[in-house]
Amino acid sequence: MSLDGRTVVVTGASSGIGAHAARQMAKHGATVCLLARRADELVQVRDSITSAGGTAHAYPVDLVDADAADAVIKQLLADHSRIDVLVNNAARSIRRPITESIGRVHDYERTIDINYIAAVRLTLGLLPRFLEQGHGHVVVSTSMSTQIPIPLFSAYLASKSALESFARSLSAELGGEGITTTIVHFPMVRTEMSTATEIYQAMPMMSARKAAGWLVKAADSRPTRVTSLTGRVGELGMATVPGVITAVTRPLFRRMDATLARRTRRK
Ligand SMILES: NC(=O)c1ccc[n+]([C@@H]2O[C@H](COP(=O)([O-])OP(=O)(O)OC[C@H]3O[C@@H](n4cnc5c(N)ncnc54)[C@H](OP(=O)(O)O)[C@@H]3O)[C@@H](O)[C@H]2O)c1
Repeated sequence: MSLDGRTVVVTGASSGIGAHAARQMAKHGATVCLLARRADELVQVRDSITSAGGTAHAYPVDLVDADAADAVIKQLLADHSRIDVLVNNAARSIRRPITESIGRVHDYERTIDINYIAAVRLTLGLLPRFLEQGHGHVVVSTSMSTQIPIPLFSAYLASKSALESFARSLSAELGGEGITTTIVHFPMVRTEMSTATEIYQAMPMMSARKAAGWLVKAADSRPTRVTSLTGRVGELGMATVPGVITAVTRPLFRRMDATLARRTRRK
């Protein structure tokens, strides 16, 4: 399936990987529907696409607000006679030790609400259209850190693991009816999300433009997943010797954070 002539819904399209992905997909000839809360940023992304000759529509929405999300689903279905691909990319991340989350169950609720529930709501909302058409591709943006256990992101990673599991169930149940999914395991990517953590400013990361290429590949070629070699090796290790992998990586991550903190102080 080429993206030319397809309609793609991209959530989290106001910044970072989602904004770059929307621009790249439009260059491939897709009509892109841009969803996120910040209307001004969405309009900027839309205008950059239309001024380059592409087709884009902005749908400002807080996807955590159930009524607003239902309304945008209705609007998408009314505006587009076919929707080919949904990219569930909107998310928030929280970096906090579990011990500091004691008394803060809302850390887990906030991440699950946008990273998992909102994506499920949108997918279920578009599913009748996908089934009617006989095809629909659902892409989910997730992290390499669900493949290798890392500390400090328990709320974020648990919500991403739920999202991956939902995507796998979707293709297991409805693959025969033309519903396909791609799980995209990003490594660290230089965006607003990652640079919110001060020490990560000193970490080498993939560019948002390159990461967006992974979403384009996911939407265009529809592989079951897009991942890195490190992620694959991590998964293999976790499937065979999980205790060893967790014990070996635990001090490594602590050392990495200490090194990054030193580098950040020196800057
Ligand atoms: N950056 C990394 O290192 C990294 C690593 C692994 C995976 N990922 C994943 O990659 C994806 C893109 O993240 P990014 O790095 O590009 O970060 P980003 O620039 O912060 O993008 C997050 C997007 O989600 C949208 N969003 C957040 N809450 C929303 C809500 N309630 N309703 C609607 N939209 C909402 C934001 O838009 P508004 O604020 O305008 O609503 C924004 O467009 C995420 O799924 C993230 O988990 C990122």
